Order: sequence, then C-alpha cells, then structure tokens
Amino acid sequence: MTLNVVYFSPIGSTLKVADYIAEGMDFQVTYVDLTDPVNRQNELVFSSDDIVLFVFPVYAGRLVRIPRYFFKRIKGNGGRAVSVVTYGNRAYDDALLELTMLVDQAGFLHLAAGAFVCEHAFDNGLATSRPDSKDALTARLFGQKIRANIDENKSYQNITSSIPGHYPFKTRFRHDFSGPLVPSTSDKCIVCGRCMEACPVSAIDQKNPKVTDSKTCITCFRCIRMCQKNARKIELSDFDDHASWLAENYKSRKEPDIFLP
Ligand SMILES: Cc1cc2nc3c(=O)[nH]c(=O)nc-3n(C[C@H](O)[C@H](O)[C@H](O)COP(=O)(O)O)c2cc1C
Ligand code: SF4
Ligand code: SF4
Repeated sequence: MTLNVVYFSPIGSTLKVADYIAEGMDFQVTYVDLTDPVNRQNELVFSSDDIVLFVFPVYAGRLVRIPRYFFKRIKGNGGRAVSVVTYGNRAYDDALLELTMLVDQAGFLHLAAGAFVCEHAFDNGLATSRPDSKDALTARLFGQKIRANIDENKSYQNITSSIPGHYPFKTRFRHDFSGPLVPSTSDKCIVCGRCMEACPVSAIDQKNPKVTDSKTCITCFRCIRMCQKNARKIELSDFDDHASWLAENYKSRKEPDIFLP
C-alpha cells in the first residue's frame, strides 16, 4: 500500500512534520507538493483503496488559502485521510476544523487529525528549531498508531465534532499594518531569478524581482528565506513590532494535539 502525502510547505517545516508522521506509518510514500504551482494544475482523484496524509500550515488562524482553494479539485471517493496542520506556537484557531471539514466534504473517511508546532515563518524566535527531536518522536508515534488502526480497519466516524474551533469560522487573526505585507527587494539583488522560480503563487515579476504583486503574495516568507544575497525583506516597522509582540507573548512551549479514534 502507498501513502500519498499532499502538502504545502513554503519554508519546509510542514514537510518535516509530514515526513516524521509518514515514517511512523511505514508505507511506501508518494508526495504531492502543492507549494509548486505546476502540481496545482490538475485534479487529484483518489479511490477507496487510497490513504492520504494532508499537511498544511496555519496562516492568521486559518488554513493557508492556496490548499484551501485547491480542495475543489480533490476527490476522495471514500479514501482514508489524516488531516494535519502546522503552526508557529501562537494558535491554530479554526484551521484544523477547516481542514477536517474540507477533507470530509471531498469524500474521505478520517483516520486521524493533528496539529503540530513548527518554527514561525516570521523568523522572530518563535518555536525556533521545531519540529525538534521531541516533536519527531510524537509524530512518529502518531504515525504508528494510525498504522495500527489501518491494520485493524478502524476509522474515525466523526472527527470534525472533536476538533476545537468555531464554525462559521471566525475572522482571520490579523493586524492592520501601515502597508501591504509584501517583501521589497534591495539593491543587493543580483537578479539570479531563484525567488521568482520558487514563489508558490508566482507573485514576483519574471523579469524584475523588485516588482511583487501585493494582491497575489501570501506573505509566506519563502523568497525572503531563500535569497542568498539577503535582498528581500518586509520593510514595515509595525510588522517588526507585531513579530516581536508574538515572540514575547507566545513563547511558552506548546505540544502537538492529536485526535485518534
Ligand atoms: C502569513 C503567516 C501567518 C501565520 N499565522 C500564524 C498563526 O495564526 N498562528 C500560528 O501559530 N502560526 C502562524 N504562522 C506560522 C506558520 O504557521 C508556521 O511558520 C508554519 O510552520 C510554516 O510552515 P512552513 O515552514 O512549511 O512554511 C503564520 C505564518 C505566516 C507566514
Ligand atoms: S533570490 Fe535574491 S538575488 Fe535572486 S532575484 Fe531574488 S531577490 Fe534577487
Ligand atoms: S513573493 Fe510573497 S508569496 Fe511569493 S515567495 Fe515571496 S512572500 Fe511568498
């Protein structure tokens, strides 16, 4: 049997969580990386024999919007699924509930769900180096328990009622900043093109990396983290203040939440 790992991971921590859970489940693995726009061009159609692990990050208390929109093109057809969100040690608010509802609506039967802490993409010192070895152990154990339930033919009939959150989903956890939350590019840029190729939503102009479409950018920080010249940055002092406020107010360590039958 094959495990299909369907994920979105601009900075890479979500993928680490997915890998640890997959190790515990101990199947052969096929990856569908929805971070790459090419992989969002086609439908994903599964069957009742399939097992799918969905792993997506939380942005502003909700499921990051790209995989959320892509769910219209995922057909479960009675396949079994595990829903997992990753978040930066503040809170996952409504995001896991949102994901389990989308997975239900797409026609899957749930095996389990979970929320795991990852390094905050804002690079503000929140949850640095997570998932760490303790998280890895929890994630592998979670995977092993899911595998045991698969081998015993057990599934979760109504996971959605056990997941914390509010439906209708509450307003996104966001602040009003003095400008759009979009990276700007400094004169250090050598126009190498790496950020344009890597942007999950193709928001950076293909000829001029100084131009980023603020309506398309999802502020995922991928271009900022990957630029070897350190040329991209969000140049808003109130954003820096917000990132520091988060780091100060949410520093106490949170542990993964898991939901199993
Ligand atoms: C725009 C944005 C909004 C975020 N909002 C939240 C949030 O509401 N709560 C939280 O705990 N973490 C939040 N995070 C942190 C991410 O959930 C976390 O860094 C995630 O692991 C990133 O996944 P990745 O490393 O796979 O890109 C946010 C990150 C970004 C970029
Ligand atoms: S990765 Fe950095 S140096 Fe390369 S084009 Fe983008 S901003 Fe410029
Ligand atoms: S331009 Fe925006 S969406 Fe694209 S990689 Fe940079 S932060 Fe992410």
